[in-house]
Amino acid sequence: MIQAALDVRENAYAKYSKFYVGAAVRTSSGKIFSGCNVENASFSLTLCAERNALTSAIAAGEQSFTHLVVASENGVSPCGACRQVIWELCGDIPITIVDARGKSRETSSRALLPEAFDENDLDL
Ligand code: THU
Repeated sequence: MIQAALDVRENAYAKYSKFYVGAAVRTSSGKIFSGCNVENASFSLTLCAERNALTSAIAAGEQSFTHLVVASENGVSPCGACRQVIWELCGDIPITIVDARGKSRETSSRALLPEAFDENDLDL
């Protein structure tokens, strides 16, 4: 999975930030889906790697995820919007953060988004 995230990172469309991000998610059925960031001259339309990986998997019929890997030059954590979407679609799963040299660290969606807002909060 780490290699999949590093590989797809090479495909990032990051002409404005030059910050290339790749993500790979494993499904409960054992498949791996990947995604990279896709930027836009209208900056706010930029799509993050994590959400692109997850939405590709959802479009392929997958709805259960066991592990996510995020790759970037310096091994950054997912942004706040991605943390919310990861929580929605994956719940509490292990997340591996890796840098361009392959150095990695482990975290989880719960650790990245404590006290998350989710479906339980809508049941008022
Ligand atoms: N980016 C991601 O793809 N995922 C994140 O979690 C952090 C940010 C992208 C968006 C943008 O293309 C670039 O990194 C700089 O913010």
